[in-house]
Amino acid sequence: MKVYEKDQKVKVTFKVNGKEMETEVEPRRLLVHVLRDLGFTGVHIGCDTSNCGACTVLLNGKSVKSCTLLAVEADNSEITTIEGLAKDGKLHPVQEAFWDKHALQCGYCTPGMIMQSVWLLKENPNPTEEEIREGISGNLCRCTGYQNIVEAIKTAAEKLRLDQPLYQRQ
Ligand code: FES
Ligand code: FES
Repeated sequence: MKVYEKDQKVKVTFKVNGKEMETEVEPRRLLVHVLRDLGFTGVHIGCDTSNCGACTVLLNGKSVKSCTLLAVEADNSEITTIEGLAKDGKLHPVQEAFWDKHALQCGYCTPGMIMQSVWLLKENPNPTEEEIREGISGNLCRCTGYQNIVEAIKTAAEKLRLDQPLYQRQ
């Protein structure tokens, strides 16, 4: 285990949404705080205790709650935040489906919920309703009652499957 001096700052390098970034952080700082300081304020903080999922990002392609790890642990990793999903001004299919199905109210949980859904559909492109509910069970929503979120994920799954070239479909 690495031991750091009090008040020592450490250089960390990430690729966030495809862009190389370097910053100096205190080793005690959580990834979620550092990402927000770097301007990625779509990464929300709902609890800081790994319950709500509002801080979910993709770290080397896997969904993580960014309040559950230190920024230094993410050194040299590739991170995708909600800001990195839209391409060329076009929303990601999961974002579009959340919009179309009215899968949000206050929107506080939405970035984390969408990042978790993106990961879920990468792992399981054709989930059952039960698998969707299980897949987002670490993300809390205080407003919607979840039904429209589940509908949005089903819609996004269908769209993503249709968008795949024929030879890649199951
Ligand atoms: S802020 Fe990370 S799980 Fe709630
Ligand atoms: S839309 Fe308000 S917490 Fe989910």
